[in-house]
Amino acid sequence: MIRSRFTGLGMAVPPNCIKNNDLQRYMDTSDDWIRQRSGIEQRYWVDEGVSTSDLGLEAANVALEQAKLKPADLDMILFATLSPDHEFPGTACFLQGKLGAPGIPAIDIRQQCSGFIYSVAVADQFIRTGAIRRALVVGAEVHSKGLDLTTRGRDVSVLFGDGAGAVVMEATSIQNPKTDSFLWSTHLHADGTHAQELWTAAPGTGLKTKERILQPHLEEAVHYPKMNGKSVFIHASQKMPESLQEALLANGLSSEEIDLYVLHQANLRINQKCAEVMGLPDEKVFNTIQKYGNTTAATIPIGLVEAEKASRLKQGTLVASAAFGSGYTWASMIYRW
Ligand code: ACO
Repeated sequence: MIRSRFTGLGMAVPPNCIKNNDLQRYMDTSDDWIRQRSGIEQRYWVDEGVSTSDLGLEAANVALEQAKLKPADLDMILFATLSPDHEFPGTACFLQGKLGAPGIPAIDIRQQCSGFIYSVAVADQFIRTGAIRRALVVGAEVHSKGLDLTTRGRDVSVLFGDGAGAVVMEATSIQNPKTDSFLWSTHLHADGTHAQELWTAAPGTGLKTKERILQPHLEEAVHYPKMNGKSVFIHASQKMPESLQEALLANGLSSEEIDLYVLHQANLRINQKCAEVMGLPDEKVFNTIQKYGNTTAATIPIGLVEAEKASRLKQGTLVASAAFGSGYTWASMIYRW
């Protein structure tokens, strides 16, 4: 039986640490408000010259080194982001150019906070069918260049940070499904009827104008992300436990049998609610949002790196992940480390 295994793991965050109080330079907000509502204490922002693929490259290089592979050994690159380097081509192509792995497919996955799990699922399908043996999966975001850093945009802007995470996935032949290290399952979902509850409308052909962006759009701040926070909270608190339950059921597991939950980091309160609904003890849910804010497609691989550093993720650890995000999209996966 051929399955996928994570053989390399890496992350990167830029050097500029922005504390909650630092945001008061831009908008009317407070450390108290941000901590209470989201759990976030700080986030990292890139310097002007740094792009999403630059951060992705840093994380990818660490993951490749850990996997003892060179870019030329890869068969595919998947890049999950909602903050691409440019409108087109995809950020996976920019990363591929910088890595130096010409010829292999380079695919962008546009599933926002669920993008990492979606990308892992796509790579896994190619690996299971034998079409490829090695994939690089990157989740990276540069949010800081796309936020409305004024009081008008404060409900969204205080939540997001820049960062990248990467995994190398390789084909592995399973001898013992109970103990071998491999990806057990992925489950993916979407409900586009809520697409406008968390979105950036411009530039876009969906605007009822002749061009994808015009001066009035900029004045109305349509090019910044908008969120219906209450709707996101309600749906995320429902869909993350639901997708975890689905994954547990598919694998014949109880929630107690999972050693560690590495969940998307939208908001500490959402993860606390998810843990409450699932009856999970706090110590089994690994959170990093306090340090990094919401890095969207990068939160889960960053969580894996941090969990490994904290010795919470070791060979044999059974891990469950779930994400919820714009789309709405949601997803889960279970894997033995
Ligand atoms: N600082 C200070 N005050 C603020 C800020 C801020 N950054 N943002 C909003 N406020 C004010 C509002 O203007 C409002 O003031 P008013 O009462 O004078 O009108 C007040 O705080 C309360 O605003 P609400 O929007 O009602 O605040 P709420 O308690 O609903 O919290 C929040 C907002 C934190 C966004 C909440 O809805 C939530 O947790 N939603 C989940 C969404 C989320 O976390 N998304 C993460 C990204 S998406 C993802 O990854 C899935």
